[in-house]
Amino acid sequence: MAGFILTQARVATIVSGDAPYGMIEDAAIVIEAGRVVWVGAKSDLPPDHAKLESRPLDGRLITPALIDCHTHIVFGGNRAREFEMRLEGATYEEVARAGGGIVSTVKATRETDEDTLLTDALRRVDALLAEGVALIEVKSGYGLDTETELRMLRTARRIAKMRDVRIVTSFLGAHAISAEYAGRADAYIDEIAIPTLRAVHAAGLADAVDGFCEGIAFTPAQIARVFAVAGELGLPVKLHAEQLSNLGGAALAASHGALSCDHIEYLDEDGIAAMATAGSVGVLLPGAFYTVRETQLPPVQGLRDAGVPIALATDCNPGSSPLTSLLLTMNMACTLFRMTPEEALTGVTNNAARALGIDDCGTIAPGKRADLAVWDVEHPAELSYRIGFNPIHARYFAGTT
Ligand code: NIG
Ligand code: FE
Repeated sequence: MAGFILTQARVATIVSGDAPYGMIEDAAIVIEAGRVVWVGAKSDLPPDHAKLESRPLDGRLITPALIDCHTHIVFGGNRAREFEMRLEGATYEEVARAGGGIVSTVKATRETDEDTLLTDALRRVDALLAEGVALIEVKSGYGLDTETELRMLRTARRIAKMRDVRIVTSFLGAHAISAEYAGRADAYIDEIAIPTLRAVHAAGLADAVDGFCEGIAFTPAQIARVFAVAGELGLPVKLHAEQLSNLGGAALAASHGALSCDHIEYLDEDGIAAMATAGSVGVLLPGAFYTVRETQLPPVQGLRDAGVPIALATDCNPGSSPLTSLLLTMNMACTLFRMTPEEALTGVTNNAARALGIDDCGTIAPGKRADLAVWDVEHPAELSYRIGFNPIHARYFAGTT
């Protein structure tokens, strides 16, 4: 593919520096072989690039393509009935303890064949791509047996063959205790989660290992056993931690060098300090906060003060966050968590890439992939400000629109 230049654009590079959003006015971006080779003010464009085809954008805004760094986007069935139950007064925990919740999606997922899982997931993926997303993390965790966990992760990998999107996977065998192992969490870890982790790793299907550390799921000691095997296999870890209570999951994950600790509404100062030391990203999930009508706010100021990078994600899943919009996620983070629109955009670009341990995207800079979103907006705060409106003009995936 011949190189080209995007011109007549304002560029929010998300490279930290003096200008908010890393903004460059009247900018140009030179793209060759799917990568950004130069970005800067048009007036500074080196003459050897000036002969390339120019694609003027009429003053539109360019940002890095968005990244959804925490999803459960592959699953069977839906939980609309559970939504009704919660509206009738049941809490998320009560629904889970009554056999609903994650375990009901496990039943539906086990009963769904791989092609149907893929078809259903693609509808949700397409909603994300339509908002300029180019990289999605997808978790397993609705199989809770080896066969179905493998099927979920194969489905996740197939998404990247069907669409112009990068997919990274996380094995989430320690998501819930399967019905067969009710009351026997330790046996589930030893007999299912760990052997399945070895199987998905042998099949090349897991890029990272996740877990759910919570009263309705697994203790830090149980998660630590899974993480020890992840370490042995050379896989990075991350954790659903401190979502409904504080069990010290974030500190445990940080002690294993976690890429991220996610949810973290109930995170305390010790957890924040452990994350800061380990360099773990805090992934906030306002869609889940909103859906379960949580009232405990995540410690945004504490994370800022400690220098813990904050990412945002949809947590797309059929129970606690049936959300397929990163733009709405950004809006919720601003309104519910009092994050700034600049933090929100950084949270779905650069910090989301960091949460995945990926450094070739998330900002617009020489050498990065040309994964870009072009928006019909004047100011980047508009991306967080509107509710239910998609101002996308174009999406570039490795330089191709
Ligand atoms: O990220 N917290 C645990 N796991 C999911 C919920 C999944 C479900 O309810 O099906 C989450 O919120
Ligand atoms: Fe989740």
